[in-house]
Amino acid sequence: MDKGSPRAIHLRDYAPPAWLIDTVDLAFDLREGATLVTSRLGIRRNPARAGEGPQPLVLDGQDMELLTVAVDNRLLTSDDYAQGPESLTIPAPAGETATVEIVTRIKPEENTALEGLYKSSGNYCTQCEAEGFRKITYFQDRPDVMAKYTVRIEAERAKYPVLLSNGNLVDQGESADGRHWTRWDDPWPKPCYLFALVAGKLVHIEDHFTTRSGRDVTLRIYVEPGNEDKCGHAMESLKKSMKWDEDAYGLEYDLDIFNIVAVGDFNMGAMENKSLNVFNTKYILARPDTATDMDFLGIEAVVAHEYFHNWTGNRVTCRDWFQLSLKEGLTVFRDQQFSADMNSAPVKRIQDVQRLRQVQFAEDAGPTAHPVRPESYIEINNFYTPTVYEKGAEVLRMYHTLLGAAGYRKGIDLYFARHDGQAVTTDDFLAAMRDANPDVSVDWEQFRRWYAQAGTPVVEGEGRYDADAKTYTLTLRQTLAPTPGQPEKLPMLVPVAMGLVGQDGQDLPLRLAGEDAPAATERVLLLTEAEQSFTFTGVASKPVPSLFRGFSAPVKLRFAYTDGDLTFLMANDSDAFNRWEAGQTLAAKIILGLVADRAAGRDMVVPQGFVAALGKALDRAGEDTSFAALALSLPTESYLGQLMEVIDVDGIHAARDLVKAAIGRTHRNALLKAYRDNADTGPFSVSPEAIGKRSCKNACLAYLMAAGDEEGRRLCLEQFRTAAGMTDVITALMLIADSDMPEREDCLAAFADKWKGEALVMDKWFSIQAMASHPDTVKRVTALLSHPSFSIRNPNKVYALVGGFSSNPVCFHAADGSGYAFLADRVIELNALNPQVASRMVKAFARWRKYDGERQAAAKVELERIAHTPNLSRDVYEIVARSLE
Ligand code: PHE
Ligand code: ZN
Repeated sequence: MDKGSPRAIHLRDYAPPAWLIDTVDLAFDLREGATLVTSRLGIRRNPARAGEGPQPLVLDGQDMELLTVAVDNRLLTSDDYAQGPESLTIPAPAGETATVEIVTRIKPEENTALEGLYKSSGNYCTQCEAEGFRKITYFQDRPDVMAKYTVRIEAERAKYPVLLSNGNLVDQGESADGRHWTRWDDPWPKPCYLFALVAGKLVHIEDHFTTRSGRDVTLRIYVEPGNEDKCGHAMESLKKSMKWDEDAYGLEYDLDIFNIVAVGDFNMGAMENKSLNVFNTKYILARPDTATDMDFLGIEAVVAHEYFHNWTGNRVTCRDWFQLSLKEGLTVFRDQQFSADMNSAPVKRIQDVQRLRQVQFAEDAGPTAHPVRPESYIEINNFYTPTVYEKGAEVLRMYHTLLGAAGYRKGIDLYFARHDGQAVTTDDFLAAMRDANPDVSVDWEQFRRWYAQAGTPVVEGEGRYDADAKTYTLTLRQTLAPTPGQPEKLPMLVPVAMGLVGQDGQDLPLRLAGEDAPAATERVLLLTEAEQSFTFTGVASKPVPSLFRGFSAPVKLRFAYTDGDLTFLMANDSDAFNRWEAGQTLAAKIILGLVADRAAGRDMVVPQGFVAALGKALDRAGEDTSFAALALSLPTESYLGQLMEVIDVDGIHAARDLVKAAIGRTHRNALLKAYRDNADTGPFSVSPEAIGKRSCKNACLAYLMAAGDEEGRRLCLEQFRTAAGMTDVITALMLIADSDMPEREDCLAAFADKWKGEALVMDKWFSIQAMASHPDTVKRVTALLSHPSFSIRNPNKVYALVGGFSSNPVCFHAADGSGYAFLADRVIELNALNPQVASRMVKAFARWRKYDGERQAAAKVELERIAHTPNLSRDVYEIVARSLE
């Protein structure tokens, strides 16, 4: 690892390119083993770098065979240009403009990294974000080079009847030897990371959308034959997204055609290539019997996300990859808003916060912590992170909170008015938000720290009620711990949406000392100092504060609530998010108390007060079943681990299981009743009501199973055997797989037998087994590597089995280190095949220092073993090096 450690790239080194590329004309001659790519570039000196004299044209390129280079139609010899391992330098052309023609040969069939041009079940497809275009042809592979593309694709007709690229199909025809071609023209200038090509044997479904200005857009979803019946939900989601973006943001689609192609081998979720989105099949294919409610909602969100990128990402793109959150944070926020509007807003908010805490807070607390806008990277693919995406979305939400819906929209409008067609920075975005709202008094320089400072702020709160003066003083203190490379931090600007709940359960009017305006019952306090106090006047009796309503800032709140305060808020808070939050806080407190008891050798006794409070949530289940399902669920083991100084793997598992069992036993009858009340959801639908009923029913079933209840087990088996929808089948199977029921093996085998032909369903089967908390899990997972449905080359399979196992809170962290050794073996294997996937897997080691000494030692051995692997990729190197620092 020491020899020639990869070098970091720094934001401070950014310089505009010496040359601009205005036009790109590509010709692909697709042939097994030898695809020819001819690229004709119309280049122009960059006026931004005038005065610097003639500059050579330096192009990026990797894993290709360079055949010819010509400048202004004059063929160069290899003495004329310089070829490095990852670059091609062409001496400065004489004029202001020039034409450069480059021919390269590539082998997509051998591309296992799934970046650039590759094959997925016999079809050609591309993935260019972030830096895959340089594996197709030599180019200035950076997002601030925007060009208009024309593309000609030629291939054998029988094997590749469908030939697609960005923009409009302008011509097509036959050529010799059973080959055919198409020609595409994309009128919108774009960075090369949005280029796409697909060639294969595909079928499609078609629909139409008429934009508000009357443009008829043809919508197509291409899939492998046999999957046509699983595209309907994705198509409906696309149409809803197009309509929503017009209504909510005033943004309309800008071409006559929008294509989606679903491929089975894809590193990520999906990709927003201009008018030719390429999707992981996981986010397109769904039928009630094959996909869960979560899958349906995931499809709706990801289809929307990629569609929304057409404006936030494509029309306005990133200047450099440090600005990634400019497009991702904004687009995630937009897809969250969309899903909230399509479904239940509080439920969506709770799910988003659960995810943020589970993955982003964990990242912020470990060795790979980085700001929303990073300062440096070794491999940009490592920065498609929860911080850039999910925390980035929280930053957008804070603009929205600070400016209000109307002010936020003004800022968005100004952003597009200023920057349409440009490649810009998060500072440009902030400036648009600021300039569109001159009357809003926010210190925008301070707000900017949300982009610059890594780590999750901790806000400690304290309340003092003065019964004589009738005042309530809330004191808030913020701290931000050091993160790698950032030893000192400055106070953040933290919006605190809050209310004071009176003893009757009603929100009290909020009047700060010195104010006389009519008082609202909810408001947003601005915490800007390290410590600040807010005194409310006219407070008739001692209130319980409800802080960070709707999770108004991505922080950790510490407030000394009593169990009584928390049960009170669970029942009375007018903010649904905080009703849920109060339950989670209480549950965490109880479970961690039990963990401490166990560690001290005391008996664990589940407090009845908590069990009773959950019973109340169960009684109210009928009012809002989706919310009830969330209110009934306990914090995950991994989230509980984050709350501990040293994670007590077995203690957390034992305590949480004990609480689950106690709830299942105490509320047996109410759980059985709620299960039955919600069993019938009528004809299949993914309406919020139907999903709510299923999630509530299944939450009840989980408690009955945790208690080992005979009737619960019977219902679970029956549900597994007879349910029509995948949500119910898979939940039952998961509960059975996690139990010691004698039917366990038979059920798993029956499921595999039924679904062996459906790759996405088999992924669920792999992950259920990988995540089961059984002593034999590591053995079983090892055996499953040789299952005929498994392939180490397919990212979805790896994420299901290897990723599933590495998120297993108990078995992955087995004290004997067997889980760590298993993962290290897979990382080393994947490093040679697909560095991006390898790197995503190795991240499971990142928080190794949070575990006890024995586990730390075992993890360190494995991290060092990976570090010493020959030919370690930049991707894996960067994560491992940081983890060991
Ligand atoms: N840009 C994609 C998205 O967020 C994600 C992605 C990144 C896909 C890199 C592939 C490669 O929608
Ligand atoms: Zn995105």
